Amino acid sequence: MGDQEQQAGWGFETLAIHAGQDPDPVSGAVVVPITLSTTFAQDGVGAHKGFEYARSGNPTRAALETCMAALEGARHGLAFASGLAAEDNVLRLLAPGGRIVLGNDAYGGTYRLIAKLYGPLGHPWTAADLTDVDSLRDSWQDDTAMVWLETPTNPLLTCIDIDAVAAIAHERGALVVVDNTFATPYLQQPLAHGADIVVHSATKYLGGHSDVVGGFLALDDEELADRLRFTQNAAGAVPAPFDCYLVLRGLKTLAVRMDRQCANARAIVDLLVGHPAVDRVLYPQLPDHPGHGAAAKQMRDFGAMVSFTLHGGEEAAMRVAAGTELFTLAESLGAVESLIEHPGRMTHASAAGSPLEVPPSLIRLSVGIESGADLVADLEQALEQA
Ligand SMILES: Cc1ncc(COP(=O)(O)O)c(C=O)c1O
Repeated sequence: MGDQEQQAGWGFETLAIHAGQDPDPVSGAVVVPITLSTTFAQDGVGAHKGFEYARSGNPTRAALETCMAALEGARHGLAFASGLAAEDNVLRLLAPGGRIVLGNDAYGGTYRLIAKLYGPLGHPWTAADLTDVDSLRDSWQDDTAMVWLETPTNPLLTCIDIDAVAAIAHERGALVVVDNTFATPYLQQPLAHGADIVVHSATKYLGGHSDVVGGFLALDDEELADRLRFTQNAAGAVPAPFDCYLVLRGLKTLAVRMDRQCANARAIVDLLVGHPAVDRVLYPQLPDHPGHGAAAKQMRDFGAMVSFTLHGGEEAAMRVAAGTELFTLAESLGAVESLIEHPGRMTHASAAGSPLEVPPSLIRLSVGIESGADLVADLEQALEQA
């Protein structure tokens, strides 16, 4: 609904509900139809309504791409079958031998894709502490083509100053890719801070209900967008129309879900800080948290992921992870229900023995939208077992 000029004045919540989502011109349906057709009739050879074949383009996907691009404040958006499929599309931009600098705290699957798939293909990679921009500048290698960062990171929730990293990378001709999965565009818009490409696992907050796997890219640069679209079609890791519909539906409530999830996360942090069983609480709002300054500068709020370590080590962490009743012990994050996990043995097991290995006593919480008091009580009883 509305052209780009009109949309420029709209707030986030209005864009989430209306961008790319005009009532259906045929029926007036206010919900974007799930278009299953794999092919589209042409009036004459090459004369069509913008769609030819469903891998190349699909109306439900186009609505999602328009809406998500608007939410990221981006000119271009591309949807994928998973977050990793979106990441793979980006990494295919690299010329032979191009080096990737990866933040030293990142999703284990991103590490696995870069180290285990792109490494053997001839792309060297380096793990870097991206909170230390002086060291990034000093250790820069001439073959570096891409800096890949998460902020907040998974699972330590470190926050990276996107403007500072982008300034160094751009001076040296490298692309900056920001995985915005943990923050979502509601809390943080990396393109406004100098990122070239924003990556999402739409499986998390964007979908928001633990019922769809998806990925997304957002960017401004026309030439890069053409190359990414070419690969999206040529390699074909596109999402199903039903999955696009689910993500689009999730986006409509993203802002209200995030507000509640951030508030519940704060209640959990209040419990954890000062709890005798807890060693360190990792949450970007805490003034002693690495990157608190970056988070305060570039985020609207501090997010709904909370990590902490326990004095009792790995055994205590396993007991707490297994001891909650409302928090479900499960991988993934970002949905309406609260989840608890042990990154060392679960989401980040693939990073064991690498520079991205995580502490064994670490617990990660994805805080949902249940009643905050119930979540606090559940965690409190589980911590008695630490
Ligand atoms: C920060 C982050 N980026 C990317 C991914 C990969 O996304 P997907 O599982 O949708 O492929 C994940 C998955 O957990 C993630 O946490």
